[in-house]
Amino acid sequence: MRILLTGGTGYLGQAVQRALIFQGCDLTVLARYRRGLMPESHFEPGDIRHVELDPLLARTDAVVHLVGIIEENPQTGQTFDVMHYEVTQRLVEAMVRHGVKRLIHMSALGTRASAQSRYHRSKWKAEQFIHGMDVESIILRPSLLFGGGAPFFVMIKNQCRLPVVPIPGDGKALFQPVARKDVAELIAKLVTVDQYWGQTWEIGGPKRFSLNGLYRHVATTMGRHYLPLIHVPLGLMFSAARFGENLPKFPVSVDQLTMLNEPNVTDDTQWHQVIPEPSPLARDF
Ligand SMILES: NC(=O)c1ccc[n+]([C@@H]2O[C@H](COP(=O)([O-])OP(=O)(O)OC[C@H]3O[C@@H](n4cnc5c(N)ncnc54)[C@H](OP(=O)(O)O)[C@@H]3O)[C@@H](O)[C@H]2O)c1
Repeated sequence: MRILLTGGTGYLGQAVQRALIFQGCDLTVLARYRRGLMPESHFEPGDIRHVELDPLLARTDAVVHLVGIIEENPQTGQTFDVMHYEVTQRLVEAMVRHGVKRLIHMSALGTRASAQSRYHRSKWKAEQFIHGMDVESIILRPSLLFGGGAPFFVMIKNQCRLPVVPIPGDGKALFQPVARKDVAELIAKLVTVDQYWGQTWEIGGPKRFSLNGLYRHVATTMGRHYLPLIHVPLGLMFSAARFGENLPKFPVSVDQLTMLNEPNVTDDTQWHQVIPEPSPLARDF
């Protein structure tokens, strides 16, 4: 089966490449840079906002669409609306032109019409667009991914080395981290079977952690059994983040603060039909 994998060189994408190759798929990876490319994959260099998609889709049976950003860069035009909504629109319109029917689309847990964060609202717009088009899709909405050096967990690990760790807000919002390898295996299995098309699945791991609990869990694995946390009032954090949005490299954005302070959990277990025993968060972050 010939798969076009967008964003296949990223954190999740590298694991998806491995899983799709393991399934015997003929893989074309679209990204701007080669880093993270497996030797078995064909590389299609290009910016998904501008690259000519038609020649690619003319030789594709199904698309796995992972391109997404967690931080906007207005200077380069990489905004949530462009990278989640407009790019998906462009890709799906090209799929329809070439009669490519099957799309696995990576959304995120928390995506809903009334979402506070622009990240989630742009993911919602993309999902709605897909529903209105003549394609069969499976939309996946995972919680935080972990395993093999997840950037969010690397940040937590680094902060756990500080004498006192600042947490935005009360740190009580719940998360349900899910293993990157499980999501990659899920995608590789879904794309090759005829079941499940037309569905949207939320994906959470086997255990829920508060933000405080995540920090404590990571610290414990580093041998630090008492981790002093200082809870910085959210109002203060939001003011700083609003100010910092105009500065390069400010550590946290308004959108990220919003997402860190809302629950990110699900009771949906449909994905257990394919991955019956999801991996727990242990020591591999
Ligand atoms: N990581 C998580 O915890 C998590 C949780 C829920 C949902 N998700 C979703 O899962 C997807 C993958 O996330 P990730 O963490 O793997 O992201 P990532 O590591 O940042 O990877 C992003 C991928 O997109 C490519 N890309 C970025 N801009 C591009 C452009 N203009 N043109 C072409 N390719 C471009 C990147 O390659 P180049 O830079 O070389 O172009 C890279 O391959 C995203 O949609 C994200 O929203 C992630």
